[in-house]
Amino acid sequence: MANIHAGLGTSHIPLLGRIIDIGDSAKPDWTPVFSGFEFTKQWIQKQAPDVIILVYNDHATTFDMKFIPTFAIGCAEEFKPADEGYGARPVPIVKGAPELAWHLTEQLILNGFDMTVVNEMDVDHGLTVPLSMVFGQVEKWPCRVIPLAVNTVVYPAPTGERCLALGKALRKAIEQFPAELNVQVWGTGGMSHQLLGERAGLINQPWDISFMDRLKDNATELAKISQEQYIRESGTEGSEMVMWLIMRGALNRVKEVHRHYHVPVSNTALGHIIFEEEELP
Ligand code: DHB
Ligand code: FE
Repeated sequence: MANIHAGLGTSHIPLLGRIIDIGDSAKPDWTPVFSGFEFTKQWIQKQAPDVIILVYNDHATTFDMKFIPTFAIGCAEEFKPADEGYGARPVPIVKGAPELAWHLTEQLILNGFDMTVVNEMDVDHGLTVPLSMVFGQVEKWPCRVIPLAVNTVVYPAPTGERCLALGKALRKAIEQFPAELNVQVWGTGGMSHQLLGERAGLINQPWDISFMDRLKDNATELAKISQEQYIRESGTEGSEMVMWLIMRGALNRVKEVHRHYHVPVSNTALGHIIFEEEELP
């Protein structure tokens, strides 16, 4: 049986992908940012997941006003890094896990989550930057990745409650898959930021910290936050944080084993958290 015992949340700041790609991440100026991922790099080697279900949002890269799936799942063998205007990032092709992805699709749809199946999809910084933050510069990604894209760009995005419930349904579906696989769910995006308009540059540190504080034990409370409230308090793109609730929903009782929060780094507050499930007594 496939199993899931851990997950993480992280921002997906494009600038940090670029810093890794040009080999500058060890430079002293960047220490306050990347040192917060040193623990994670060791941790992921010990965890050695076979598959990561990587919850992210496409930033009008593959999906645009022609198609806006609320929840999309990548069922293909592989996904290429997208060209977001400056050429594709020099990172490995993302290898999918089609058998598990189709199984998840079946179970999620039968349980009322009408996933959009995507068989051809270039993946943007929302997916590739978290992989780089955790695995660094590598020849190939050390595990399979199932992209799970959530619309957080165009109103109305799915509610927090829906995202938390999707996480729970994901867990059930993972546990029904017959192969012995160590699976993780990652929630990406956020934290507070607004890229455009009069409030561009907005960062709300107390909001971010309160969100991280409550994620472990009060996710149902966080799930009540509406997209409007995220936008008001944490900026238009702060609403990406709803994707962390999918990760949280996929895990039972957890302990927080690592946290990193840093401002200033970009337009975005950098947030990162790792959860492991508590052993049953
Ligand atoms: C930035 C952050 C994002 O989440 C994003 O999608 C694009 C840009 C930023 O920090 O600049
Ligand atoms: Fe983003």
